[in-house]
Amino acid sequence: MIVTVCSTKGGVGKTTLTANLGGLLADAGYRVLMVDADVQPTLSSYYPIERRAKFGLHHLLTQGTLEEAVSATSIPGLDVVVSDDPEGALENWILHTPDGRVRLRHALRARPHGYDLVLVDTQGAVGPLQDAGVLAADVLLSPVPPEILSAREFSRGLLAMLERLRPMAHLGAPVGHLYAVIYRMDRTVDARRIADGLRAAAFADAPGAVTILETVVPAAVAWREAATARVPVHRWASRRRGHEAAERLIALARELLPHMDLSVSTETAIPGRNVS
Ligand SMILES: Nc1ncnc2c1ncn2[C@@H]1O[C@H](COP(=O)(O)OP(=O)(O)O)[C@@H](O)[C@H]1O
Ligand SMILES: [Mg+2]
Repeated sequence: MIVTVCSTKGGVGKTTLTANLGGLLADAGYRVLMVDADVQPTLSSYYPIERRAKFGLHHLLTQGTLEEAVSATSIPGLDVVVSDDPEGALENWILHTPDGRVRLRHALRARPHGYDLVLVDTQGAVGPLQDAGVLAADVLLSPVPPEILSAREFSRGLLAMLERLRPMAHLGAPVGHLYAVIYRMDRTVDARRIADGLRAAAFADAPGAVTILETVVPAAVAWREAATARVPVHRWASRRRGHEAAERLIALARELLPHMDLSVSTETAIPGRNVS
């Protein structure tokens, strides 16, 4: 299964979500590959690299193969294709290559590669590289912070981007279902009111195209602390403040990936979780 984390804005939490979902699923015993499809290589260095491959994203796209493009992170079972295109040359390459926008999709679907889950992180700007990331996915996940929750903005941005790509279905690359998660919410905001507004707006503009997840992820310092410590937030959870963040991450993963078994990691990674 391929999940692409996307938005039409930067700084909304895409990379944080990608890295933490990857870390959680790997700790649950799955083999997970993350692909850093952002020119700014934030995901590439989110966790320490244990073994660095010769190549990265550029090779994956231009050659259409994962071979020699997969680096191992310090988390067992979690690999990453690093972003190695600082000049942004790939955007141009995709634009001028007939199958450019679907090359990533086909490269990640070549079997067997042995991964249970592939997570693609994208840049928060419309362009050919973002298109390639979106078109690779079975399922799209978009963090939506409360400040961009006005109905019009949501539909103008994300839903419009997806509408533009829908004709790609004729070329064998249908756009995956979009799940939006209300993300980095502060305590002053009423989650239910926002979720309801978002659902209504999405439904009015594109009925059935988007599902707003029940799980809401609050803003919490634990996410930043875990990032600084270069560990997923569920591993940070044994510290006092990480607990709620970890619970939300797990709830989000369960809702998005109901077929995946997360019992291992919740039992082992969060000491004292069952102690009230
Ligand atoms: N749940 C959260 N609570 C508080 N801060 C967060 C949370 N998630 C992410 N952040 C912070 O928000 C900033 C942007 O996140 P990032 O994942 O880099 O966004 P994007 O990849 O969409 O640009 C980072 O400084 C990150 O540490
Ligand atoms: Mg990012």
